[in-house]
Amino acid sequence: MRKIKLGTSSLEVPVVAVGCMRINSLDKQEAERFVRTSLELGANFFDHADIYGAGKCEEIFADAIGMSPSVREGIILQSKCGIRPGRFDFSKEHILASVDGILKRLRTDYLDVLLLHRPDTLVEPEEVAEAFDQLERSGKVRHFGVSNQNPMQIQLLKKAVKQPIVANQLQLSITNSTMISQGFNVNMENDSAVNRDGSVLDFCRLHDITIQPWSPFQYGFFEGVFLDNDKFPELNAKINEIAAKYGVSNTTIAIAWLLRHPANMQPVIGTMNIDRLKDCVKAADIRLTREEWYEIFRAAGNVLP
Ligand SMILES: NC(=O)c1ccc[n+]([C@@H]2O[C@H](COP(=O)([O-])OP(=O)(O)OC[C@H]3O[C@@H](n4cnc5c(N)ncnc54)[C@H](OP(=O)(O)O)[C@@H]3O)[C@@H](O)[C@H]2O)c1
Repeated sequence: MRKIKLGTSSLEVPVVAVGCMRINSLDKQEAERFVRTSLELGANFFDHADIYGAGKCEEIFADAIGMSPSVREGIILQSKCGIRPGRFDFSKEHILASVDGILKRLRTDYLDVLLLHRPDTLVEPEEVAEAFDQLERSGKVRHFGVSNQNPMQIQLLKKAVKQPIVANQLQLSITNSTMISQGFNVNMENDSAVNRDGSVLDFCRLHDITIQPWSPFQYGFFEGVFLDNDKFPELNAKINEIAAKYGVSNTTIAIAWLLRHPANMQPVIGTMNIDRLKDCVKAADIRLTREEWYEIFRAAGNVLP
């Protein structure tokens, strides 16, 4: 699969990341087949979090892939920490303990990438910096990033953290694209002009932080899938028309739309269906035209000024 550099690091990653949040919906054999197929497709970047399935997803994954030192060498592992029941926690103690738990469950001695999962307003940047330094020194984590953070929150961390922030994992799909639409409506009086994220898209581009769109097929907050959904007739008609033109599925076009943006994006897909996984990977070879990208954006109900 086509690769990109993750942020400013030298780590080369496939443009489509495999999200493992739903791997606990598979039985053992299904999970083994899913992971094997991912590797055959070159999709060897796996996204985890300590909270997925309350830790079970990382364990299921490690079993399914038959984790061993040689298997580990051929894959890229990312996980996240910082969400706890009823609160967020970026304390040094919690970050360090979380990483130890993640490594144990994934049966490895290092993570390629650690992300802070969701902003903690009680964050002390100096504490995060100490945790990152310790994790880097011990070899437990090679690269660091964030998730769901706006530019100011990243800048606040950077006050103390010296490692580059290589990725920002953010909710982004064709139907959930306020970070894009606000950029078309600068200083206007309509709702689309509301800047909800501090211009995170441009900030990440400016600082070479890879955006990892999560839930690329969902609308709302896990409300459902927009593809083949009667709630989005115009969008589906347009996606299907373009899919027919390229001879691919609507799934492929939904991912190709994200990849067409020049912001160095690496969508994190959540499917556990092997056919859909293959269709997502196909998107790496498709480059939509500028016209097609805008047609899809408008078909989702976005109005250009
Ligand atoms: N950083 C964060 O805060 C955050 C939050 C949420 C998720 N994530 C990460 O992002 C990954 C992706 O999230 P997600 O799973 O919500 O993303 P998603 O890829 O948008 O959704 C996957 C779900 O949609 C279903 N689906 C996809 N296409 C479909 C179609 N055409 N028809 C019917 N069902 C379809 C899948 O079912 P099938 O399995 O049957 O295909 C699966 O249940 C997660 O695994 C996780 O790694 C991160």
